[in-house]
Amino acid sequence: MTASRLSFTLAVLIAIAGMTWGIAMAISHDHSTLPAHAHLNLLGWVSLFLMGLYYRGHTDLDGSRIALLQVVVWAAASVAMVAGVGLIYSGAPQAEPLAAISSLVLLADMLLFAWLVIRAAR
Ligand code: HEM
Repeated sequence: MTASRLSFTLAVLIAIAGMTWGIAMAISHDHSTLPAHAHLNLLGWVSLFLMGLYYRGHTDLDGSRIALLQVVVWAAASVAMVAGVGLIYSGAPQAEPLAAISSLVLLADMLLFAWLVIRAAR
């Protein structure tokens, strides 16, 4: 499994989930979880697909374990953060540590991605 293939696969699955969530919000007229829906789509669909495009264009990185790890961590932390944000906006503030820790993991994983990108550009 390459990093790009995993990114593309997870991104389209997350897009389906995010769009279904949006339709459910629209039908129910309850938009209270819109921050979680927006983050699921922007982290899990848009960002992950863009990362996949980057890896697809850098074949030396695409087959590496570090790129695969970066994608796995990004996808898992995105889902965890969205779950935390969704719970907070559904009236469960005790989910704040989940949102906080997963957001820090996302930042660390973006630093890893930035390092891979900058290193390849030099
Ligand atoms: C079937 C597809 C989708 C439906 C039915 C849908 C539905 C919705 C609804 C009902 C809201 C709440 C609007 C509000 O209360 O102001 C919303 C917000 C939002 N959605 Fe979606 N959505 C869909 C797909 C997407 C996708 C693919 C993305 C990103 C790539 C996205 C990003 C956002 C963002 C950023 C917001 C927050 C907008 C704001 O705060 O003004 N949505 N969506």
